[in-house]
Amino acid sequence: MTHSVHRRAAVVTALALAGLLSAAVPAAIAAPSAAPSPAALAAPDIPLANVKAHLADLQSIATANGGNRAHGRTGYKASVDHLKAKLDAAGFTTTVQQFTSSGATGYNLIADWPGGDANQVLMAGAHLDSVTSGPGINDNGSGSAAVLETALAVSRAQFAPAKHLRFAWWGAEELGLVGSRYYVNNLPAAERSKITGYLNFDMIGSPNPGYFVYDDDPVIEQTFKDYFAGIGVPTEIETEGDGRSDHASFKNVGIPVGGLFTGASRTKSSAQAQKWGGTSGQAFDRCYHSSCDSTSNINDTALDRNSDAIAHAIWTLSAGTTVPPGGDVYENAADVAVPDNGAAVTSPLAVTGRTGNAPSALQVSVDIKHTWRGDLVIDLLAPDGTAYRLKNSSGSDSADNVVATYTVNASAEAANGTWQLRVQDVAAQDTGYINSWKLTF
Ligand code: TRP
Ligand code: ZN
Ligand code: CA
Repeated sequence: MTHSVHRRAAVVTALALAGLLSAAVPAAIAAPSAAPSPAALAAPDIPLANVKAHLADLQSIATANGGNRAHGRTGYKASVDHLKAKLDAAGFTTTVQQFTSSGATGYNLIADWPGGDANQVLMAGAHLDSVTSGPGINDNGSGSAAVLETALAVSRAQFAPAKHLRFAWWGAEELGLVGSRYYVNNLPAAERSKITGYLNFDMIGSPNPGYFVYDDDPVIEQTFKDYFAGIGVPTEIETEGDGRSDHASFKNVGIPVGGLFTGASRTKSSAQAQKWGGTSGQAFDRCYHSSCDSTSNINDTALDRNSDAIAHAIWTLSAGTTVPPGGDVYENAADVAVPDNGAAVTSPLAVTGRTGNAPSALQVSVDIKHTWRGDLVIDLLAPDGTAYRLKNSSGSDSADNVVATYTVNASAEAANGTWQLRVQDVAAQDTGYINSWKLTF
């Protein structure tokens, strides 16, 4: 983004604007318009044939390993190795994380796409293990293959989103979300807080499909709903067992989650058959957790639509909230007196029309006139009141004025709302005023 929008806080009077800034401020102060960034480009169509080729590979792996790809069986590790090789070749940085469950070694496969803001991580994942009774092609070859093909599409496009992308394939989901819980539990709190969202895909090619969207984080949910609305496919909220897949591991520690599902053992109603086709009175997946969950247990249309929805969500949700230098500037130039050795004062700044959180490198520029800057303690207050210390007082800092730009990691804060600059003079004799301050998003 190259243009910058100079906007005044509502508290600045029209008179002040006319007197001070008539040349610099447009007559009509428009809402911030998000200039298109490369990350806002449309997602590619995910080729169904490629997703199905991955399913055929997983079927072959199961067939060669006693008919399944279950935790602790050779077919599981072979599945991990197969995906890892494709991701490595496509330029991902892959990690295999080992854990132990029920006396057997389990594996999570993590693939990081280099680049993007390390403080804003968008994750998508699927469990790669099957039950022991079958090859697990819908449950959950379908999610695994679609996430894999979306990752490969990221590589083909050499996609450079604002956020950092991380894809994951979990082990031992069928034993109770074991792999994903292990991953989350072993992630330091600082790393958890960087994950802006986790998208889960478990069973997205059911042979008698429904189109279910998880009812969790509203932004993620709406992103999926928008995709399906755009192709004219009605959706319903997923109700066949909230918490029955790996998103629960993330949701439990407060990470925003969402996902898609085409149904398991529950029966399709006649109303659902009317809107989606298929067979009412029959399970969405009659082969759920059975030996017949093979490559013939897939509805191609459902797999195709859900794969494209995944790519749409990855492309849309990775756009991030950072704007390079020269971004949108919000300023309050109204003077606020800072009483000598007195109470803190604040200057408000209304930020509207943005989406998501503030940037991880929010620029806070302050211009405070003062005869002894060492007297001043300065904080930025987020709309929810969270304080970020910009400057402490100091007995030895004898210079005038504070004219400085501070960088604040404000990525945990909603961008919209009233931000405040809080200034307190904590020592007697010298005094001054806030001349102006601004935030650059
Ligand atoms: N693997 C999941 C399970 O066996 C499948 C499942 C059932 C599911 N209900 C779900 C996945 C609801 C997501 C949402 O429990
Ligand atoms: Zn599953
Ligand atoms: Ca003072």
